[in-house]
Amino acid sequence: MAAEEGQWVLMATGRSPTNIAVIKYWGKRDEALILPVNDSISVTLDPDHLSATTTVAVSPSFPSDRMWLNGKEISLSGGRFQSCLREIRKRAQNVEDEKKGIRIKKEDWGKLHVHIASYNNFPTAAGLASSAAGLACFVFTLGKLMNVKEDCGELSSIARQGSGSACRSIYGGFVKWCMGKNNDGSDSIAVQLADETHWNDLVIIIAVVSSKQKETSSTSGMRDSVETSPLLQYRAQTVVPERVLKMEEAIKSRNFESFARLTCADSNQFHAVCLDTSPPIFYMNDTSHRIISLVEKWNQSEGTPQVAYTFDAGPNAVLIAPNRKNATLLLQKLLYYFPPQDNDLRSYMVGDKSILSDAGLK
Ligand code: DP6
Repeated sequence: MAAEEGQWVLMATGRSPTNIAVIKYWGKRDEALILPVNDSISVTLDPDHLSATTTVAVSPSFPSDRMWLNGKEISLSGGRFQSCLREIRKRAQNVEDEKKGIRIKKEDWGKLHVHIASYNNFPTAAGLASSAAGLACFVFTLGKLMNVKEDCGELSSIARQGSGSACRSIYGGFVKWCMGKNNDGSDSIAVQLADETHWNDLVIIIAVVSSKQKETSSTSGMRDSVETSPLLQYRAQTVVPERVLKMEEAIKSRNFESFARLTCADSNQFHAVCLDTSPPIFYMNDTSHRIISLVEKWNQSEGTPQVAYTFDAGPNAVLIAPNRKNATLLLQKLLYYFPPQDNDLRSYMVGDKSILSDAGLK
């Protein structure tokens, strides 16, 4: 380290969007390495609406690693941040900042502590995959600060060790997390199926039914499901492999009918696994069920899917429309059946900002 000890701070800032799974990850075959029981597929959202922004700073004057989430200090003692930090530190390279006169040799990174400040522009831990955006952003930004040269596949495998779904947020567009076969997790990485320009017409609306933190975290919920749900094994071994192939095909050919049917079916099966868990896990509430009925009735009356729905580990609905016309119709229906003054249903629009402001859902 060249510049006078303790006199400098080096920083990097990054932003990562969250992702929404259309074929769900639910269940680990290895808890420590975060290796899943099945492949999963997701859509990465527009960072303007749902993303984490993270600044990582390093200085010889920092006596320990510390982290703040949305302005509040949180403990870094859990193994997951430490795993990501360790993996990135291992790959750190020499860094030179001529202007500041800073030179850090790769072997010196181990002696430096980091301060991390992360901010989510959406509700944290409300089943909107906040950990996916946060961990992906942390890994990406730390890698930038430490001049890590690894490619996105390798970064995704590091982010996976922070939170499984985070590995998919390393890429934009449509992303597949391949479960892999190796016991060391080396082949459990995310790959991009299609970039963010591939299916531009899709419009994603998130109906925020509740922004409260969920009662059962994904981590403990899926652990209980692996231990107690017979349906989970059937889903992982028999249903998902075939569904993943069909979903890849639907995305490639922009076949909305197939995409929507698979997305809704997979969300429903994931929540069926939650109910099949002992004790059962309820992530959706009455409002979520009413949103499903609304979409199902609409789709049935038209004879073909007009909109797809999917719910993660929380009651909030992620609704995917094939075009702006259907998105507008959907918003009209949501406003009619769920007037904002009657409950705390709010909505975020991803893909076409003008519809959000017109809709008046805040
Ligand atoms: C329902 O990635 O949050 O959103 O790996 O334990 O951190 P950990 O779990 P997490 O689980 C996400 C589950 C899900 C489905 C999905 O995103 O595929």
